[in-house]
Amino acid sequence: MNNCKLSWILVAVLFIIVAMFGYKFTVGNVQPSDDNRQAVMLTKDERNTLLLEMRVWLQNSQAILAAASEKDFDTVIKYAKASGMGAEAGVPGSLFRKIPLGMKSLGFDTRKKFDDIAADAEKSRDSNRVVAKLSVAMNNCIACHGTYRFVETVQ
Ligand code: HEC
Repeated sequence: MNNCKLSWILVAVLFIIVAMFGYKFTVGNVQPSDDNRQAVMLTKDERNTLLLEMRVWLQNSQAILAAASEKDFDTVIKYAKASGMGAEAGVPGSLFRKIPLGMKSLGFDTRKKFDDIAADAEKSRDSNRVVAKLSVAMNNCIACHGTYRFVETVQ
């Protein structure tokens, strides 16, 4: 076999590997669910990690509303930032690959919307804007919960 042929075979093999990674990254580890949602299959620890993140999102949303009602913008900013992109750093790559692309996009968009609440509150100091923006961000909570669920699996 000449060298040129070997290089093409290598290129083809690499292409297939990259395509497989890309596919995995896009579809994630999902199965159809009998409640018409998609089941994201996770280990017990991964599911617990994400559910804890969810409860923190709920708590932070309540804290933002309470602070906005008292025009306490420093607290609004603190909790909005805690729900923003900065909180994403702790998510391990293995878990990230199991989440389908549509869910990742919704998750990132939600985090960005919280960062925007923090930035806007800092500038405008307007509680009506905080409430309006939080209500828009929470449409993402509704959209994602309507589409996906987390199901525990052994691997
Ligand atoms: C990108 C998708 C996504 C977004 C965005 C999202 N969630 Fe979730 N959340 C889920 C999934 C999936 C579950 C598990 C639901 C199930 O298995 O039935 C969940 C579960 C929860 C739970 C239950 C936690 C537990 O301990 O059982 C809470 C509370 C929650 N989410 C709050 C929120 C709030 C508040 C927001 C918006 C600020 C939000 N979520 C945004 C996907 C999302």
